Amino acid sequence: MTTAHSYSPDELQLFKDIKNGKTFEADSADMPAFYRKHLLNLLWMQGDSEYSGALGYMPYIEKAPTLQEKVLVAQMVKDEMRHASVIYRLLEELGQNTAEHISKVDLGYKLEEDQINIGFKRLKDDYRVNIFYYDIKYWTDYILFNFLMDRAAGHQLQDTFNSSYIPWKKAIEGIYKEEVMHLAHGDKWVRILSKDPEQKKFLQERLNLWWPRVMNIFGSTQGASNDLYVNLGLKQRTNGEIRTVFVKEIEEMCAEAGLVLPVYKEEEQPKREPKNH
Ligand SMILES: [Fe+2]
Ligand SMILES: [Fe+2]
Repeated sequence: MTTAHSYSPDELQLFKDIKNGKTFEADSADMPAFYRKHLLNLLWMQGDSEYSGALGYMPYIEKAPTLQEKVLVAQMVKDEMRHASVIYRLLEELGQNTAEHISKVDLGYKLEEDQINIGFKRLKDDYRVNIFYYDIKYWTDYILFNFLMDRAAGHQLQDTFNSSYIPWKKAIEGIYKEEVMHLAHGDKWVRILSKDPEQKKFLQERLNLWWPRVMNIFGSTQGASNDLYVNLGLKQRTNGEIRTVFVKEIEEMCAEAGLVLPVYKEEEQPKREPKNH
């Protein structure tokens, strides 16, 4: 148990019950407000990320290099929008108004600056993971997004396989399979691009830019909220643990492709309480 936050006896009892296998459904009358708040926080984050992810991929239906690749990108756009719809449905079941949310926030917003790192900052009043604020400027970026971000998402989704929230657990299997296809697309293209010296040079340049951005999605590995999600059965591993597995995979693939992973320095993360929904 972390010392950064002291929990009430009720909360400690909840952690214990969840550890012993307690689960919740949307209509569970005994769902504590505390649990609900953190569950909503994670679901909103995933829903908005899937939605803005779909919009970020969309221009590449047109920009992908071959007709076959345009088909694959169109498929991925459809996958991401479907993921969003599945997660928003879970939110609706919990009494959230997702249609109103989508109409109010600008999930298509992208940063114009290219060479920028916003750290852990949020730029708009939505809940997306902040890597989705960056613009996918080149086909190489699209590939790095598959290679890095879809892989990171896959690792995070694995943690939902045993979620204490049953509707989420049921929804995640199909989503996970599709993310695995996306990351495999990234792997294939990292190999293709790294065979050509010019393309490889550009890939390395863009990797240098995207690497800290993707590492930031894991947040601070020292934060207390990680442990809290684990205690609530909403995650199985802390962000730090997932990040370690993810980095090892990327290191191996980069070594194979002759790419150099830049050194990442974890930034200070401002303490952020989940919003009230
Ligand atoms: Fe997705
Ligand atoms: Fe994806």
